[in-house]
Amino acid sequence: MSQWTPRLRPMQTSDLSAVLAIEETVFGDDAWSRSVFERDLVNEHATYLALELIGQDAGQPLAELAGYAGFWRLDDEANLMNIAVAPAWQRHGLGEYLLRATLAEMQARGVTSCTLEVRVSNERAQALYRKLGFQVTGRRRRYYQDNGEDALLMARMLD
Ligand SMILES: CC(C)(COP(=O)(O)OP(=O)(O)OC[C@H]1O[C@@H](n2cnc3c(N)ncnc32)[C@H](O)[C@@H]1OP(=O)(O)O)[C@@H](O)C(=O)NCCC(=O)NCCS
Repeated sequence: MSQWTPRLRPMQTSDLSAVLAIEETVFGDDAWSRSVFERDLVNEHATYLALELIGQDAGQPLAELAGYAGFWRLDDEANLMNIAVAPAWQRHGLGEYLLRATLAEMQARGVTSCTLEVRVSNERAQALYRKLGFQVTGRRRRYYQDNGEDALLMARMLD
C-alpha cells in the first residue's frame, strides 16, 4: 500500500453503500439503516462528513471511504449523532482526525457547545472523547433499545 492522504468532504447519497458496510460492521444490530442516513442527508439541521483516503494503486488514483461522522445543530448547540472508522483503519489516528475536523465544522457554523451519547461499555470511544476534551455530564438510563444499556452523556464547549 502506498501513501494515503485523508480528505474530508460532505457525505453524499452515493457514499451510502460504503457507509452502510462500515456501519453494519462496527455497530451490528444497532446499525442505522439506509433510510436514516437518507433522511439526515436532506435535513437542514444535519451535517455529515465522509473521510476518504486518497492514494494510488499500481499508479492509479484511489479513494477509499474509511469513516464518517455526523451532527445535528440547533442554534449554537450541536449533538454528535454518529462517528465511525472502518475496522481496517482503526487505531491510525483517523478517528481523532475525523472528530477534530467535525468539531471545527461545528465551530464554523457558530456552534459553541457539543453533546453526545455513548454506551457505557464503549470505552474506546469514551477515551477518544475524553482526549478531545469531552467530560461526562450525565447518564441516560436504558437509552439503547437493543439491550437496555445506559448512555453516558458527554459534553464540551467549543472555543
Ligand atoms: C471510536 C473510533 C471512532 C475511534 O477511531 P480510531 O481511528 O480507532 O481512533 P484513533 O486511532 O484516532 O485514536 C484516538 C484516540 O481514541 C482512543 N482509542 C481509540 N481506539 C482505542 C482502543 N481500542 N482502546 C482505547 N482507546 C482507544 C484513544 O484515546 C486514542 O488516542 P491515543 O492513540 O493517543 O491512545 C473507532 O474505534 C470506531 O469506529 N468505533 C466503532 C464505532 C463507535 O463506537 N463510534 C462511537 C459511537 S458513540
